[in-house]
Amino acid sequence: VERPRPLVAGNWKMNGLKASEKVLTEIQEGFVAALRSKVDMAICPPATLIAQLAEQAEGSGIAIGGQDCHARESGAFTGDISAEMLADAGATCVLAGHSERRQYHGETDADVAAKAQAAHRAGLVAIVCVGETREEREAGRTLDVVRTQLKGSVPAGSNSTNLVVAYEPVWAIGTGLTPTAADVAEVHAAIRAALRVLVGEAEQDKVRILYGGSVKPSNAAELMAVENVDGALVGGASLVAADFLGIAGAY
Ligand code: G3P
Repeated sequence: VERPRPLVAGNWKMNGLKASEKVLTEIQEGFVAALRSKVDMAICPPATLIAQLAEQAEGSGIAIGGQDCHARESGAFTGDISAEMLADAGATCVLAGHSERRQYHGETDADVAAKAQAAHRAGLVAIVCVGETREEREAGRTLDVVRTQLKGSVPAGSNSTNLVVAYEPVWAIGTGLTPTAADVAEVHAAIRAALRVLVGEAEQDKVRILYGGSVKPSNAAELMAVENVDGALVGGASLVAADFLGIAGAY
C-alpha cells in the first residue's frame, strides 16, 4: 500500500512574538527542495501571529494553522476565534482537542467534534488530537480511551483531505518521555482500525496519523519509522528551527 505523505507540524502553544518571524525564516531556509519533496510542513503559531506568518510563508510550502477555534462562525463569544477567521487570516489547518484544551478548558469529545466540523465548514484541515493520561496507561486503558476519544471527536464528513489525527500521550508531552516504538505501533494500528468506521474503507489508509509528545531530532527517526506513523506533531522542538528541521530530516 502507498503510505500517506508525511506531515511534520509544529505547535508553538502560547509562545511567539512578532520577532518569532525569524524562526519561520530559518525554517523556510532549511525547507529545501530535497526535504520538500519528502514531507509536508505546518506551523501552528498563536492566533496573534497567524496573519503575519501566513503572509511570510506564502509560496514556501509551509502551511500555517490555528491551535483552536470556536464551533460557531461568529457571534457573542468574547475572546473566541472562529474557523472562518483563521481561514481569513491565512490559516489552512487548525488543531482540535489538544490535551491542553481538554485539560485546561474542559473540552469534551463533543466540543472537539463541533470544532473539527467548524474547521471543515471553513475549508480548514482539522488536526484532531487524542491521547491517554499516565493513569489511564497504567490502568491498561490506553486503547479504550483513544478509541472513545476518536469516535467522539471525529465529525461526520471527515476524509483524508480534511482530517489528520494526532496521537499525543499526555504523559509524553513536554516531559522528555516517549512510548516505546511497540507501544506507538499498537496505538496507531488501533487508530487506523477505528478510522475504517469513521471515514470509510477507501479513505482510512490515506488519513495521516501523527505522533506527538517529546519528539526531538534524536528520537524522530525511530518514531517516524513506526508503522502507521505518518508524521509528527512537535511542541517544544518546533520553536527551534534547527530542531524542527532535524525532525523533518528524519524522513
Ligand atoms: O502538540 C504538540 C505537543 O503537545 C507536544 O509537545 O513539547 O512534548 O513536543 P512537546
